[in-house]
Amino acid sequence: MARRKKIYEGKAKTLYEGPEPGTIVQYFKDDATAFNAEKKDVIEGKGVLNNLLSEYFMLGLGQVGVPTHFIKRLNMREQLVRSCEIVPLEVIVRNYAAGTMSKRLGIEEGTQLPRPIVEYCYKDDSLGDPLVTEEHIAAFGWASQQDMEDILSLALRVNDFLSGIMFGVGIKLVDFKIEIGRVYDGDFQRLVVADEISPDSCRLWDMETNQKLDKDVFRRDLGNLTDAYTEVARRLGVMPKNQTPVTKPTLIN
Ligand code: C5P
Repeated sequence: MARRKKIYEGKAKTLYEGPEPGTIVQYFKDDATAFNAEKKDVIEGKGVLNNLLSEYFMLGLGQVGVPTHFIKRLNMREQLVRSCEIVPLEVIVRNYAAGTMSKRLGIEEGTQLPRPIVEYCYKDDSLGDPLVTEEHIAAFGWASQQDMEDILSLALRVNDFLSGIMFGVGIKLVDFKIEIGRVYDGDFQRLVVADEISPDSCRLWDMETNQKLDKDVFRRDLGNLTDAYTEVARRLGVMPKNQTPVTKPTLIN
């Protein structure tokens, strides 16, 4: 593999300096973590599936006019993205109650919400990514009022897009998390969807059986995680035809 500089190693991905200034290579690992990394495992093939699925969602978002950091997939585990400054928020959109919302508010999992609900968590592992309000975000300067309007609009557009795609293949989009990046075109700042969109960061339930096809399979020991992600990829038609092993990264022109 070509020598290149590691920028950051996260729980599920490693970031390397890209071949051109302003680019980053995202390498999708097989590592799975839950409950702020208290539960850990290596799930063979997860990284490949998330790389393909995230490419599929990011490309689709681009095609319907939602800006993302995605440039292109390089190989089975890596994609080239625009480097951006990550807004320190996890933006969660919920269509049905589940997870922490069910716990916090005592709403039964699977209850349809009256409308999509957007939540913000402050990105800090040492604090367990606490839920925050727009008051905190404004007071601590994590994002401006204009940013928050843009983030809300991006989050709802991603929700409409993903809900529709999933509906088409018999899957309910229960909730998901996105991250937002700032990119600079000269002096002009834009917000884009960054990080990844995959079954690691969404709750996906089969529409008929409510079978879970997302990371809850790992969090709650419900079966084989790769099988669940493979089912999502199969329904969306993004299964790798010939799984070629990862070789050295391809340089862009
Ligand atoms: O745990 P909670 O119910 O708040 O999660 C809501 C959604 O956000 C789920 O789809 C979960 O996978 C995602 N999430 C995430 N990363 C986090 C927290 C939540 O992808 N750190």
